[in-house]
Amino acid sequence: MADLFDKIYKDKGPLGKWSEVAEGYFVFPKLEGPISNRMKFRGQDVITWSVNDYLGLANHPEVRKVDAEAAAEWGSAYPMGARMMSGHTSLHEKLQEELASFVDKEAAYLLNFGYQGMVSTIDALVSKKDVIVYDVDAHACIIDGVRLHLGQRFTYKHNDMESIEKNLQRAEKIAEQTGGGILVISEGVFGMRGEQGKLKEIVALKEKYNFRLLVDDAHGFGTLGKTGAGAGEEQGVQDQIDVYFATFAKSLASTGAFIAGDQEIMDYLKYNLRSQMFAKSLQMQLVIGALKRLEMLKTMPELKEKLWENVNALQNGLKDRGFDIGTTQSCVTPVYLKGSIPEAMALVNDLRENHGIFCSIVVYPVIPKGMILLRLIPTATHTLEDVEITLTAFSAIRERLENGTYKRLSAGVAEAMEK
Ligand SMILES: Cc1ncc(COP(=O)(O)O)c(C=O)c1O
Repeated sequence: MADLFDKIYKDKGPLGKWSEVAEGYFVFPKLEGPISNRMKFRGQDVITWSVNDYLGLANHPEVRKVDAEAAAEWGSAYPMGARMMSGHTSLHEKLQEELASFVDKEAAYLLNFGYQGMVSTIDALVSKKDVIVYDVDAHACIIDGVRLHLGQRFTYKHNDMESIEKNLQRAEKIAEQTGGGILVISEGVFGMRGEQGKLKEIVALKEKYNFRLLVDDAHGFGTLGKTGAGAGEEQGVQDQIDVYFATFAKSLASTGAFIAGDQEIMDYLKYNLRSQMFAKSLQMQLVIGALKRLEMLKTMPELKEKLWENVNALQNGLKDRGFDIGTTQSCVTPVYLKGSIPEAMALVNDLRENHGIFCSIVVYPVIPKGMILLRLIPTATHTLEDVEITLTAFSAIRERLENGTYKRLSAGVAEAMEK
């Protein structure tokens, strides 16, 4: 018999194995100073393209004031206990009502964290008889929610309508035998590559197949649609999304999340979401902070306009310079380059140290071997000058990637990794 920890001593996991070369720099970096377009990394000013503060609310003076006042009035403990037991307040209800109305649903329910909330939502929506059909590129919280499911589940190829139909047919056969139903799960915006989920096409399939649709709109909420109500609004199918989910962790620049849908479904979920029934209620300063942020989202369309001015300038600038930004249909801006992991490390080092640009880097196994994905998140706090500096820097690093500079610089790392 092995000691439980043996495997941990031997193998730190797919990401952990890079810790010695990556920690503190490529992973677990410390970005310091107020959250904005310019922050400090290792004491140096950098243009920050890795924070999901889409509307620039994180450090907005009005938001900071409300957060501070709420913390002073309520502390960070209030209310104590789970919603069901002793952690329920009128302000929680008010926030739910306002969120529901904003995303055009009958009712909403608050979640302490998006991740656990999504896991619990999936868990509560399905029984053993039901079948789940979900996009293979789904966020980890969806995958973990599906893992709890005791019945059948099928993935469909990313945003592939032929594949989803094939899997709906398989699901239908099973559901007919078990007497269960079908839950389809997509994201509103896929956060890595920026594509919107094909919600319009998916809901069109409701004419042929009987299923309910759950959408994780973490990146769409606040950024897409006329009012900012998200990918469903953008695609004109919000009313066909049966359970809408969004987090406060991006456009609302806070912590917490919510689901929204028909009153009866929300009433059911409120009594069956284990992550809410058995966990402490969202703290008051977060509830009050979310009310303020939502009000700003609704009354300050200029924030979203500025965001999109930056998104368009960055994405068009990259395309004009011949960069491959894939098929993004959102603020998420991926830049695909070809190179090895050591080259990617040298390139990011150059970007940060010599050009003062901080963005996230994604490599194999998250994307195919030999590819480097630099992921940029524009926000309303960025300026067109930030965009220009970044475009110039990107042209410079591409040249150095292509002329073999990073290969030379990283030869030692490549050798060490092969050992
Ligand atoms: C698509 C998606 N869903 C869910 C979550 C989890 O939300 P939270 O940070 O509120 O736990 C995230 C990350 O924030 C996300 O990107």
